[in-house]
Parts: sequence; structure tokens; C-alpha cells
Amino acid sequence: MSVSSKHLQQTEQSGLCDIGFIGLGVMGKNLTLNLADNGYKVACFDLDQAKIDAILAQDELERTTDEARVVACRSYTELLSNLKAPHTIILSVPAGEPVDHVCHHLIDAGIEADDIVVDTGNSLWTDSVEREAKYKGKFVFFSTAVSGGEVGARFGPSLMPSGDPYAWTRIESIWQAVAAKVDPETGKPIESFEPGKPVTRGEPCTTYIGPVGAGHYVKMVHNGIEYADMQLICEAYHIMRNGLNMSPKEIAATYREWNQGLLNSYLIEISAEVLDQEDPETGAALVDVIMDKAGQKGTGLWTAVSALQVGSPAQTITQAVFARSLSSFKSERVAASQKLSGPDASMTTQSSKEEVIKQLHDALYCSKICAYAQGFQLMSIAAKEHGWQLDFAEIAKIWRAGCIIRAVFLQSITQAYESNEHLENLLLDPFFIKQINDYQSNWRRAIASATIAGIPCPAMSSALSYYDSYRCDVLPANLLQGQRDFFGAHTFSRTDKPEGKKYHIEWNHPDRPMVAVKK
Ligand code: 6PG
Repeated sequence: MSVSSKHLQQTEQSGLCDIGFIGLGVMGKNLTLNLADNGYKVACFDLDQAKIDAILAQDELERTTDEARVVACRSYTELLSNLKAPHTIILSVPAGEPVDHVCHHLIDAGIEADDIVVDTGNSLWTDSVEREAKYKGKFVFFSTAVSGGEVGARFGPSLMPSGDPYAWTRIESIWQAVAAKVDPETGKPIESFEPGKPVTRGEPCTTYIGPVGAGHYVKMVHNGIEYADMQLICEAYHIMRNGLNMSPKEIAATYREWNQGLLNSYLIEISAEVLDQEDPETGAALVDVIMDKAGQKGTGLWTAVSALQVGSPAQTITQAVFARSLSSFKSERVAASQKLSGPDASMTTQSSKEEVIKQLHDALYCSKICAYAQGFQLMSIAAKEHGWQLDFAEIAKIWRAGCIIRAVFLQSITQAYESNEHLENLLLDPFFIKQINDYQSNWRRAIASATIAGIPCPAMSSALSYYDSYRCDVLPANLLQGQRDFFGAHTFSRTDKPEGKKYHIEWNHPDRPMVAVKK
């Protein structure tokens, strides 16, 4: 574009919108209103006219002046013509093909090379990498993973942006405005749930994560941790319900108490609310009428797959994915429950109810530390593999508010990485070493009692196995290497020789001689 036409365009820009928004589903609608609350005028488009009508009505209801903060567009071309140049367009459409579908329409509508398109869906990180390359020269494809659900999107989500650093300089202030805010001293969220009154103080929960793909990778791991955290809370509930015969309301009260201390988190808070809810139809506890088959959209699975691919032990996250899969075998489980025997589920024969509850609290806390340790370990290994410079203190910081896994102990994780940016594993941080030392005996007791009572706790016990394996100086992998050498001549290293030297025993020879294997 020539300098004169650029100037002409700038003079014509007043009255135009600051941001374009495509996709007005639950997340898109709420992010748009959040942008509007923060003073950005938004041009929006959705294929569904009802969604456009809904956001216009909401804007009319909430705005304090006559001027609309949201402008409805009927086509991609109209959206572009309503925007200040260079254009910034945010997408909130389902992950996968719909993202490319919209991108192609934007190309047809005349999007330009220095325009930015930001994908905020739960996209697979490798898709973001491919898209940046695919659309290079047509527009700048940038990714920003968003966590926080409906309320987060509306009043402050956690945002994980990644991609072209110059594009980041153009959108940084927008993301800082709409992101959740944290009190930097306490690490606690500063919240306002009032439309039109966004929080303007505190540290914003957004930071540039790295090259495109890195942001969605980090969000994927966030979701893996989310799966583990949710499953752990569900296992504690299951043990209280079946092993201690507690009512949902009693368990809700226990969670509320736990929410005052070390376990303070959004997921504990909402679990208490779910357990307290009565079924409007029958008056029974709602949880008792909700079908015990867990759904999943794939981000936990992607985390587990990535952990397996890069060889990062993330068994608690993986167990949480498997637990959802196993839950879906409802009719098979019902039939098996009639055929397969197990012990009496009552847990109060060895310890009092109060003691078991305390044990469960500590078990949940230690398991949660391990789940986060696994998530951060996975990000660290993946970062090396993909050449990303991830800043783990910053990642922990932006998860302190806005996102689904927000929890008070993310402040401790922030401090752990701030005091040692090369920390190999969260479990090795002095604070967490002490925490696990203090609480592990109850962790072990809770798992042992649940196991004896036949109540499954796959995530909790996998977390303990992770901890015990990680602190074990000699694992039985020595025997395993012997087995591999026996049947496949796969060779082994010796503890008393340089590791690079490989040996093989000629197992079929009567004298079984050992040979040093030449490379
Ligand atoms: C978030 C959530 C959000 C969504 C996930 C999980 O951070 O806001 O993680 O992205 O809840 O997609 O969905 P599933 O449990 O259905 O996999």
C-alpha cells in the first residue's frame, strides 16, 4: 500500500471498529463483551443470525452510552470494511476444519498480508504451526489459547498467546486489558463480575509464550492437569461417599472447608457447589442422578499422547484420561458389578471417619503436586524437543487467575520457578520437598485404605507411584534390560562402566560369556 493511500486510510478510520470477532458461541460472545467492556469497539460476525442478535441485545442492555460497542456484520467482506487497518481479527470457532474454513473466507474477502488473525479455540498445537506457515504472505496467523470457560471469557480469562513476536506487540495491550488479574503479592485473583466494570489493576494473566504452537501446547498441558485435578477430586469424593458413607452435602461441606486452606482452588469450590445442588425434578442430590459417564473433547488425550511421544512420565494425567474412558463402559460395569467380587467398601474399621477425611485431604494435596510436577516436566521436555524457551514462572503466574486450574498453590509454583529457573522437577523445590515430607504418610494411608476397601483411586495411586519411582535410585529397569537382552540381544549398559558402552550376554551359549558390543 502506498504512503498516500495509507494516510488516506488513517484519516478515514475514525468510527471504524478496533477488532473483528468471528464466532459468537459461548466463548466468542463473552470475549467480545469483555473486549467491549475494556473500551474496544468490535465488529462481529457469525453464520448464525440468532447469535448476532443475542450479542447486539446484550450490548444494548449493558452499555451506558447510546453508541453501540458491537457492530454486527453480515459477511466477511463487511467485517473487513468495518475495521481499522491493519486489521486484527479474533476467531472463536470450533478447533479443526472450521478454523481453516474461516481463514479461506477471509482471504477471499481481501484480508491483507499485515493483518492478524488470532485463533482462540482449543486447537491442536501442531495445527497452529502448520497454519502459520500455510497463511504466510496472506495474513499473519497468531494463536492464543484461552482458559476460563464462560465466566472467564466474560470477566477475565487466562491467555496463552504465541506466534510472530511483532504481531504480539500489536495485540499485547488488548490481551492485557481483557485477561484476568492477580494481586502480585498474594497471587490471589482480583475479580469483578460486573459488566462494564473490568478490573484494571493487578498483574494480567497473559504472557507471550513463544513461537506459534507453544501457546496451544501450554494450554493443552493446562487441560491435562485439569483432567488430573478433576479426577483426583472425584476420587476423594468417591472414597468419602462409598468408604465413609457420607452424603453429597456432607462432602460439599468438607470441600468448602478444604477450600480455606492448601487446597484452595476453583475446582474444589465448584465441586462443593455441584455436590450441594439438589435435582429440581426429584429433590435428590443432583450428583446422584447425573449419569456416571464422563465426556471429553480431546485435550487431555492429546496431552497423554504427547507425554508418551516425548517420553515424559505423566501417568496421573494419563490415568485421568483412562478413568474417563473406563467410565463410559457403563453397561459393562453394571454387569461386571454383579459378577466380580471385592471387599466391603467400608473404611472406618481401621481409622475414624475424621482421620480418613484428614488422610484424604493430604492425599489429594500430594497427588495434586505430582500432577502439576508431571505437567511442568512434560512442558520442559517438549520445550527442549521443539526449541521453545518456556518461562515456567511466567506460565505458573498466568494460571493463578482466570483459568480452570487456578489455585492458591500456583503462587508456590511461581516462587519455585522464580527462585530456580532451571528446576528439573517441581518435586525438587525445597518448599514442595517439605510439603510432601509433611503430608505423605497420610497420602499412603488413604491409598492403602481405599485399596483394601476396593474403591478405585487410579489417579491418586499413580501420583504416589510417580513420586516413589522418581525418588528411587535403583528401579527394576535393570532386570528389564536383562530380559530385553535375553530375548532380543538388545544390549545393556553396566553401572561400573561408561554408560555409552553396551554389553550383551550370549544367553544360549553354555558358558554365557559377556561381550562388549561394538557400535
Ligand atoms: C478451559 C477448559 C476448556 C474446556 C476443555 C475441557 O481451560 O477453559 O479447559 O477449554 O473445558 O475443553 O473439555 P473436556 O473436559 O470436554 O475435554
